[in-house]
Amino acid sequence: MSAQSSIRVVILIKVGFIGAGKVGFSLGKYFAENGTEVEGYYSRKLSSAVEASNFTGTRYFSDINELLNTCNIIFVTTPDDEIYNLWTSIRNMNIRDKIICHTSGSLSSNIFYDADQSDVYSYSIHPVFPISDKYESYKSLKEACFTIEGHPKYLGMLVELFQSMGNNIIPLNRQEKTLYHLAAVTVSNLFCGLMDRACGYLKEYGFEEKQAIEALYPLVLSNINNIREKGITRAVTGPVERGDFNTVRRHIEVMPEHHRIVYSDLSRELVNISRKKHEDRNYERLENYLEGTK
Ligand SMILES: NC(=O)c1ccc[n+]([C@@H]2O[C@H](COP(=O)([O-])OP(=O)(O)OC[C@H]3O[C@@H](n4cnc5c(N)ncnc54)[C@H](OP(=O)(O)O)[C@@H]3O)[C@@H](O)[C@H]2O)c1
Repeated sequence: MSAQSSIRVVILIKVGFIGAGKVGFSLGKYFAENGTEVEGYYSRKLSSAVEASNFTGTRYFSDINELLNTCNIIFVTTPDDEIYNLWTSIRNMNIRDKIICHTSGSLSSNIFYDADQSDVYSYSIHPVFPISDKYESYKSLKEACFTIEGHPKYLGMLVELFQSMGNNIIPLNRQEKTLYHLAAVTVSNLFCGLMDRACGYLKEYGFEEKQAIEALYPLVLSNINNIREKGITRAVTGPVERGDFNTVRRHIEVMPEHHRIVYSDLSRELVNISRKKHEDRNYERLENYLEGTK
């Protein structure tokens, strides 16, 4: 990963959002609270645009042309699958010399195809952050790391915009982003799946879901703090790292059969990490056993 070279260009910012959902609401409110001028919202349903404009103290637009005429930075915050069609429908409107951004993690700015030919400057600006609530998530956005890639002309200005709000923002090369997005999904959405599995095991002992989450929360939090402070290898503990073969075997025996594949796969990952930590330990028996449980 290397930063693209950029020229610093300053413009009078007027932000508009197409797509009044969780990210549109949250980013708009966050911008507005931090002194960036947000003009308002256009959305598929007028009622969503009205709701977002009320929340952020901005305007709503019933006509997309009017939003494009008014704003010079347009954030497309629709679902990923809508971005291409939306771009196709607006690229011949009054968009020349404007900045167009989307917030998808999996798509690059290239989804705004032929933008350069239309003198449009395109970017993907992805919050590496879960935005789950239209009305609450903006309060935590200052903690979010963003990534950005796109046209060099306004890259520096956009980086500075986020830095001025206190965010860490990392430039990416303009390239395909699926693997990049997979990183975020692995620790965010898939983690919800893991958490659901762990809570399910505790429910067998009479825990309610909320109790289970409360019981597991300190474990999750200390673990992530250890990873952050010491790195993954030094943070790893548990039966695989210790080489407690029988404990691992009992886990495999009690879990539903369809859970084995994920447990075994991640445990083999842990064997690889543990080998780096304990070069003198022999994990071969455990590794062979895990291989046989797939
Ligand atoms: N949520 C997250 O945690 C998160 C994190 C990082 C990045 N992102 C990215 O942010 C983007 C938005 O995600 P989201 O979670 O905010 O989705 P969302 O809550 O489903 O909101 C999307 C909104 O887009 C509107 N919309 C759909 N099709 C449209 C169209 N053709 N024209 C205009 N508006 C349209 C819908 O508005 P109506 O109500 O009017 O139908 C909907 O409210 C996605 O690209 C996603 O990958 C999300």
